[in-house]
Amino acid sequence: MPSESTPLIQQVPVAEHRERYPHRSLRRYCTIALTTVPLLTLLIILFCIAIGGDSDLFGEHESSRLDFGTKEVVGRTVPHAAWPESDGLSYKALKKILSETPNPDKAREWSKYYTAGPHLCGKNLSQAEWTRDKWLDFGVPQADIVSYEMYLNYPVDHRLALLDGDDVVFEATLEEDILDEDPTSGLPDRVPVFHGYSASGNVTAQYVFCNYGTYHDFEDLEKAGIDLKGKIALVKYGHVFRGLKVKRASEMGMIGVVMYGDPGDDGEMTEENGHKPYPDGPARNPSSVQRGSVEYLGIAVGDPTTIGYPSKPGVPRQPLEGKVPDIPSLPISYAEALPLLKALNGHGPNASAFNEYWQGGGLGYKGVQYSIGPTPPETRLHLMNEQDYVITPAWNVIGIINGSVSDEVVVLGNHRDAWIAGGAGDPNSGSAALNEVVRAFGIAVEKGWKPLRTIVFASWDGEEYGLLGSTEWVEEYLPWLSEATVAYVNVDGGARGPHFTASAAPLLNKAILEITGEVQSPNQTVKGQTVRDTWDGYISTMGSGSDFTAFQDFAGIPSIDLGFGAGPNDPVYHYHSNYDSFSWMDKFGDPGFEYHATMAKILALLTAKLADEPLVQFNATDYAVGLDKYLQSVKEKAKSSDMAALSKSTFHPLEKAIEQFQHFAKDFDASAIALSELASTQMSPPSLAQLYQGIRVANTKYKLLERQFLYAGGLDGRNWFKHVVFAPGRWTGYAGATYPGLVESIEDKNQTNVDRWVEIVEGTIKKATDLLIPG
Ligand SMILES: *[C@@H]1O[C@H](CO)[C@@H](O)[C@H](O)[C@H]1NC(C)=O
Ligand SMILES: *[C@@H]1O[C@H](CO)[C@@H](O)[C@H](O)[C@H]1NC(C)=O
Ligand SMILES: *[C@@H]1O[C@H](CO)[C@@H](O)[C@H](O)[C@H]1NC(C)=O
Ligand SMILES: *[C@@H]1O[C@H](CO)[C@@H](O)[C@H](O)[C@H]1NC(C)=O
Ligand SMILES: *[C@@H]1O[C@H](CO)[C@@H](O)[C@H](O)[C@H]1NC(C)=O
Ligand SMILES: *[C@@H]1O[C@H](CO)[C@@H](O)[C@H](O)[C@H]1NC(C)=O
Ligand SMILES: *[C@@H]1O[C@H](CO)[C@@H](O)[C@H](O)[C@H]1NC(C)=O
Repeated sequence: MPSESTPLIQQVPVAEHRERYPHRSLRRYCTIALTTVPLLTLLIILFCIAIGGDSDLFGEHESSRLDFGTKEVVGRTVPHAAWPESDGLSYKALKKILSETPNPDKAREWSKYYTAGPHLCGKNLSQAEWTRDKWLDFGVPQADIVSYEMYLNYPVDHRLALLDGDDVVFEATLEEDILDEDPTSGLPDRVPVFHGYSASGNVTAQYVFCNYGTYHDFEDLEKAGIDLKGKIALVKYGHVFRGLKVKRASEMGMIGVVMYGDPGDDGEMTEENGHKPYPDGPARNPSSVQRGSVEYLGIAVGDPTTIGYPSKPGVPRQPLEGKVPDIPSLPISYAEALPLLKALNGHGPNASAFNEYWQGGGLGYKGVQYSIGPTPPETRLHLMNEQDYVITPAWNVIGIINGSVSDEVVVLGNHRDAWIAGGAGDPNSGSAALNEVVRAFGIAVEKGWKPLRTIVFASWDGEEYGLLGSTEWVEEYLPWLSEATVAYVNVDGGARGPHFTASAAPLLNKAILEITGEVQSPNQTVKGQTVRDTWDGYISTMGSGSDFTAFQDFAGIPSIDLGFGAGPNDPVYHYHSNYDSFSWMDKFGDPGFEYHATMAKILALLTAKLADEPLVQFNATDYAVGLDKYLQSVKEKAKSSDMAALSKSTFHPLEKAIEQFQHFAKDFDASAIALSELASTQMSPPSLAQLYQGIRVANTKYKLLERQFLYAGGLDGRNWFKHVVFAPGRWTGYAGATYPGLVESIEDKNQTNVDRWVEIVEGTIKKATDLLIPG
């Protein structure tokens, strides 16, 4: 067990409160500049003003005057060479190392290591130590284990049986088949099927098929007059985070939940379509079970007993109520759901008689009618779930390469813990890729390179239970992270199929679109195709479901989450099942491990771009475009709601604020690019120093821009979430909601609250605008 202190991180200085926008010193530079080279000086003055230096000379809001001077340089890339503090290697030489080092065979080796044995949160210290030692070996100057004391559960016992009166007609094994072809499926210490944070309980009751268990599904059941009280819910996985299914079932008066993954959600790769199941083919193995957390992710994340502060030894623990389920739940395979579904046949209405969301179950060919139930009184389920709740240490690994600019930091993270011994896709395809990234940066460091900004690598523990490791770490280092962090880059399932996916804060869209254009696709239909060429460029908004959540939604740090996933025609990914194993990955998921290596290259180059380009590679205009687009969808929502009272002018203040923001964002981006372009072409050191001072001001503003969208009061009923633009949906958990405060007030038909949220959001947009306004 590692020491409870965190020596490494405590060495990182938490900058004292200081003037964030050094107008005064910038003004001094501009003044000095006036007395030197006349033409250059004039340009410098103009740019200093545009970026937010001294506006006295021209009065307020004069940045538009710069347009004539900046248009022609906007869009060109910024050469790296001239930054005075960059060290050791040219940016070009660095990029060469980062794109040539990641290696599929190495990634395969790391994958094999991580997936050799169980690594449930808090259960495998040796993997944390191994990771730390590897990173040090690779040449990262500092790496250490940072531990927390997590409240969580481990499985003790369970039972699921179908009863006819007092007779047991079906006893579920609650086991996945042991496969000769897949050694970790048969480990004696393999992890049982269970739900993280599920309630212990022992119930016997009739049951009801509740579709995906979404909020709307339960509304539909209520409308159809189905009696849910005192019953057990049988639900399919999918559409919303599993914990929210349990939450809603409990609110409907149900007393237990059984979940299974229906092959109707497996795309084309089904047995019904003639595909053999794993291990003989790409279809889902019928005995596979999806484990997972049932924490109420839409409400809060992290250790549920320490919401808002880190789980250090001895801290006060909060009550669990409202954050985790109060009724038991169990995950099962579709093979074991079959007898339960069939016992419902002919009882209650058919799902097919409901709306479109209820169509498409994939077990019709096995004789399932998808009748909703409830089952007759004598047909009952016995559901027993026994969990041991403990407070146990969990271990993040944190590696640091100090940069020249101490208060600008880029964090790259992946979680290490898995629900099963495997986890070859989730998360250890990301872990294998991360190791290749670290190895590549280590080579650069050994060649004498020092980044401009500090780079932090993180291997989180406890993501699976509820983003525990990352959330507690962000809560502990919040002052330093808010002060210094430029961006957070996340990879979870880095390679589970061939399709590139990204979700990001809009500030980062530009960087990922550019970087994917520099990395070769592992699957080229035309020679030379990059990942960008084989990707549609769609970037989704940030929701939750991985370790970026605390960074983005709590700390206001622009974040991005990357992966290669499976499409409907790819081998079925056995999410949170024993078959998310090395054997599956080696044969079906990424044979050859080329996607692992490609992910490593993308992550390495993206991190370098964010950490080592003189100008922070953000685009504020993209944020403004996003804000406008999200507002359109709120207006659509308002229109389709029956809130007659919502007048046309309700959203007018927001439209105006966004327009203003967009105006200044455009000027700011253009000026920042022009400034760095100028810096890259000026060779005279005194002028350069002045230009860099201007770039530094621009970088500080880019760094702090996302923070302006935090609202200290938090979202209604879940005030840990501070971001007013992005949050997980209240009833989705994974999927991102935009302007959640507004949308939820509309859903609640509360005009007063709509007006309140218009004002709150408007306030944040104005703060963001003020940050970008020169002077
Ligand atoms: C990195 O910077 C911190 C803070 O300045 C310092 O305490 C630490 O020793 C540095 N690490 C290395 C390896 O230089
Ligand atoms: C920890 O992980 C390693 C590597 O995957 C594995 O070999 C070992 O069995 C695990 N240890 C425990 C205690 O589960
Ligand atoms: C669960 O309840 C049943 C009766 O409904 C009882 O026979 C059994 O012993 C209970 N099991 C546990 C572990 O409490
Ligand atoms: C449900 O569908 C089956 C055929 O799939 C049909 O035989 C049955 O009558 C339907 N039940 C109801 C209540 O419509
Ligand atoms: C490669 O791309 C082709 C064409 O898009 C596709 O049919 C094939 O399945 C892909 N193979 C892999 C391994 O991604
Ligand atoms: C920034 O984003 C805007 C809006 O998407 C776009 O028009 C502009 O070209 C971008 N600028 C750069 C330098 O990428
Ligand atoms: C509507 O929202 C306001 C806060 O803006 C709150 O005080 C009030 O209780 C809400 N009304 C209802 C019916 O929930």
